[in-house]
Amino acid sequence: MSIEVSPLVDNVKAFLAQPRPFLIDGKWIAARSGATFESLDPATGEVFATVSDGGEKDIDAAVESARRAFDRGWAQAPGAERARLLNRLADLIEAHAEEFAQLDSLDSGKPISLARLADVPTAIGHFRYFSGWATKLSGETIPVSVPGFLNYTVREPIGVVGLIIPWNFPVMFAAVKLAPALCAGCTVVLKPAEQTPLSALRLGELIQEAGFPDGVVNIVPGSGEIAGAALASHPDVDKIAFTGSTEVGRKIIAAAAGNLKKVSLELGGKAPNIVLPDADLDVVADAAADAIFFNQGEACCAGTRLLVHESCRRELVDEVAKRASAIKVGPGLQSDTQMGPLVSQEQLDRVGGYLESGLAQGARIVTGGGRPAGLERGYFLEPTVFEDVEASMTIAQEEIFGPVLTVMSWHDIDDLVQKANDTVYGLAAGIWTNDLKQAHALAARMKAGTVWINCWNAFDPGSPWGGYRQSGWGRETGRLGAEQYTEVKSVWVNMN
Ligand code: NAI
Ligand code: MG
Repeated sequence: MSIEVSPLVDNVKAFLAQPRPFLIDGKWIAARSGATFESLDPATGEVFATVSDGGEKDIDAAVESARRAFDRGWAQAPGAERARLLNRLADLIEAHAEEFAQLDSLDSGKPISLARLADVPTAIGHFRYFSGWATKLSGETIPVSVPGFLNYTVREPIGVVGLIIPWNFPVMFAAVKLAPALCAGCTVVLKPAEQTPLSALRLGELIQEAGFPDGVVNIVPGSGEIAGAALASHPDVDKIAFTGSTEVGRKIIAAAAGNLKKVSLELGGKAPNIVLPDADLDVVADAAADAIFFNQGEACCAGTRLLVHESCRRELVDEVAKRASAIKVGPGLQSDTQMGPLVSQEQLDRVGGYLESGLAQGARIVTGGGRPAGLERGYFLEPTVFEDVEASMTIAQEEIFGPVLTVMSWHDIDDLVQKANDTVYGLAAGIWTNDLKQAHALAARMKAGTVWINCWNAFDPGSPWGGYRQSGWGRETGRLGAEQYTEVKSVWVNMN
């Protein structure tokens, strides 16, 4: 039987044929050290691209370039001009959408169908949405009580911003950070994840084609420990916007302490997916499987903890397990793939460690837990469902970041709320019920930045996204997302 694989478009073939340099000050240049690293195809473990590996000196050069571009006038450019460029970039990504879907699918392993449906349109949507804020970030006039004084505020761009992003939604996270930063008038150094640098570099080419002034966007791939750390501790960077692990989030905070740069963080999650006894179990089974298994479970908002009322636990577990075992696992570029490989051997090992810990602590695997049949190479794992999970188990507490669902049951609403909030995280939560009064009451009791009622993975660039507790600092997207890249200046005028 022949398997249909999306053939690479010519631009992608050409892009992958050359080692990819950095974008610094509008020029494509290799690492000062000459160092490179390789991008591996998670479906095979084979090398398919070579990328310059950023060191401290490269980060220094990129920050200098961003500073010059900031001082040269990007910050003062009319909002309408920034809006025009952001819209132009959105149009260009749209015209090259398939290239981004292919690059991210190859680099991260995700199904190309998901990249086409979610990652790329979301990236485009963010540039369009934030182009609107470029002309609307305004201050206020404050009615002060001091006679004869005028007091007003203005919002100014914060300055040079370091953007550090992960590998699970590569072009999307690049857009989620670039769009608000650029709309506010900041200049940036973007450090993509070492696992998935390619789509950011292709985006850099379109940023130049769109006509952004040199140095407004600089892109330097490299390791977290070297390039990321150099950016986070750099004395001339005014802010870091980071998405990734809570562990590295802590390191960013420590590194930022030197010059007290501003920090916004979008970190891990351990989202509860709550099922009340009156919910439509057929609908919930589809949604619960999708909430955890989409993008191989490599999502901060994955619905990892299914909290189902004990009266319908058995039925729902069986229905979700049925759906899990029916998921078509395969290479991301294969057109019928519903779930791809994990991003790396490291991630597969990490998730494997959680499977062992779950079993050792007494949980039981209902389905999955192994390598899918017929996929001998690559970082594949079957969609996995654990039951008999206790809230105290490691698999119920820590972010697994793989296709592993933990099912727990509850008996009354207070028990449910206690269990739902019983992790250090607070990113997202879901509630399934036809009792809307109960749904709103529960939403109010969730320690989570986002609550989904009878849905999951509902997103919009206009709706704030971010975490309570150890899921992060600040809110991305929406007005708050743009304002995160500004400072507020209060101006007093003595009119007497
Ligand atoms: P990570 O947090 O190490 O990597 C994310 C980004 O941070 C990458 O660009 C990386 O190069 C950079 N980085 C790493 N160390 C750094 C440092 N010391 N200073 C500055 N930047 C640094 O995530 P990793 O190791 O790839 O995955 C580990 C776990 O993190 C996952 O299993 C998952 O639990 C969580 N994670 C959460 C994400 C989210 O969307 N919130 C995304 C990726 C990972
Ligand atoms: Mg790491």
